[in-house]
Amino acid sequence: MNSTTTLITNQQLQAQQRRCGDIRAYWEAQGRAPAAFVETYGCQQNEADSERIRGMLEQCGYTLQDTAEAADVVVFNTCAVREHAEQRVFGNLGALVHTKRRHPAQKIFLCGCMAGQPDVVERVRRSYLHVDGVFSTHHLWEFPTLLWRTLSTGRRVFADADGPGSIAEGLPVSRQSRLKAWVSVMYGCNNFCTYCIVPYVRGRERSRRMEDVMDEVRALVEDGYKDITLLGQNVNSYGQDLGQGADFSDLLSALAALPGDFLLRFMTSHPKDATPKLFDTMAASPRIAKHIHLPFQAGNDRVLAAMNRRYTAAQYLALVERARAAMPELVLTSDVIVGFPGETEAEFEDTLRLVEQVRCDALFTFIYSPRPGTPAARLPDPAERAEKLRWFDRLCAAQNRISEEKHQAYVGKTLRVLVDGQEDGALTARTGGGRLVRLPGADPALIGAFCPAEITGAATWSLVGRPL
Ligand code: SAH
Ligand code: SF4
Ligand code: F3S
Repeated sequence: MNSTTTLITNQQLQAQQRRCGDIRAYWEAQGRAPAAFVETYGCQQNEADSERIRGMLEQCGYTLQDTAEAADVVVFNTCAVREHAEQRVFGNLGALVHTKRRHPAQKIFLCGCMAGQPDVVERVRRSYLHVDGVFSTHHLWEFPTLLWRTLSTGRRVFADADGPGSIAEGLPVSRQSRLKAWVSVMYGCNNFCTYCIVPYVRGRERSRRMEDVMDEVRALVEDGYKDITLLGQNVNSYGQDLGQGADFSDLLSALAALPGDFLLRFMTSHPKDATPKLFDTMAASPRIAKHIHLPFQAGNDRVLAAMNRRYTAAQYLALVERARAAMPELVLTSDVIVGFPGETEAEFEDTLRLVEQVRCDALFTFIYSPRPGTPAARLPDPAERAEKLRWFDRLCAAQNRISEEKHQAYVGKTLRVLVDGQEDGALTARTGGGRLVRLPGADPALIGAFCPAEITGAATWSLVGRPL
């Protein structure tokens, strides 16, 4: 661990356990079994954090429910990546005035990435007086203390102080699925892409110790988990802060060597740090999904430089070529931003060209959203919204055609899938590459099992198959 990464101590964690005990005693004294509701916005990192929040709430004696109505605690775990995400949160947070009026003892918390922005915290402090507590991602581990403070004093709590961040091991976790699990391998981001708020709200990159990740994955596999996704904003820089010489590929190889029947996935990979070693490691193990989420964001080199992405379109193409040489069956997905400040139509068309050249299996497309405090938000942005929307539509049309063509190519093939659930009368499954396969008429006893499936049909977003 380097000097900037602090590990939350056992003493600090034990103090949280004592607060959980205080809260349990508080409810026992009232003769009531309390209920809690946790709503998650944003990415898998937040999903993973919410599972920890639910774990802590269960330790405090709360039963989890799926509505804010009559809940004793409501937690909104929020996302700040685009303005639209924030607006949704403010709208839903405002509506909690009514649930609280019906249940005045309700405690309402806002946490996650929005809570890492001073202007948001100030707005909640002044205008959302029904909110009892705010805590940034850096303070997640001490949620029991914050909750206890609101219960025991009736006062509002604000734990939003900034910092490089820390690592808390061994927090309780209440997982949503019995099959799929998130495992954070690192937190924070050092890349400061000029449009992005994440480094400001999640602090600096810090990696968990390899043995801690290994222990968690080993225990998950022993518990029957089959599909394990390693999380980090940029997993490729895993280990750089540990100073142990191990990189993300080494971590992947070590995890893939654990005994058991499971599939490892990971996200996200930054192209500037994806290496041939990573691709060869993926190719070498049947336990590592042949899927990489490798966002290119834009296809024009001026825009890429203005975004501070530190690669060119040609470098990205070469990287993808190298990855596909190692794994011909590779499923490639990416994120793209349309309408970065100052982007011209010709520059946008370079993105379209890259989309056609790379032929991703799926793209996550976004219209640029200015984030206060980021360098890009200060750039002139002359393109009109209507024009950006037209570009966005062209991009989506191009990718939908490519996705559909790629899906059609699966028809007639047999793939190993993990059957993971049931929806609209059909079983659902995922390929190693993460493609959704619907299995109409299949036996529900297959849920939770890997099985070969013949692909019989395809659409833009999903495949249809038949288990063999
Ligand atoms: N760490 C990941 C993703 C973080 S956010 C990575 O580097 O790829 C997920 C995606 O949201 C980004 O890849 C980007 O495409 C998009 N995004 C981030 N900030 C944005 C903004 N200000 N406006 C629009 N899209 C944004
Ligand atoms: Fe944001 Fe860039 Fe970090 Fe991803 S790598 S979280 S886009 S700053
Ligand atoms: Fe994720 Fe949104 Fe935060 S994308 S890291 S929850 S800003």
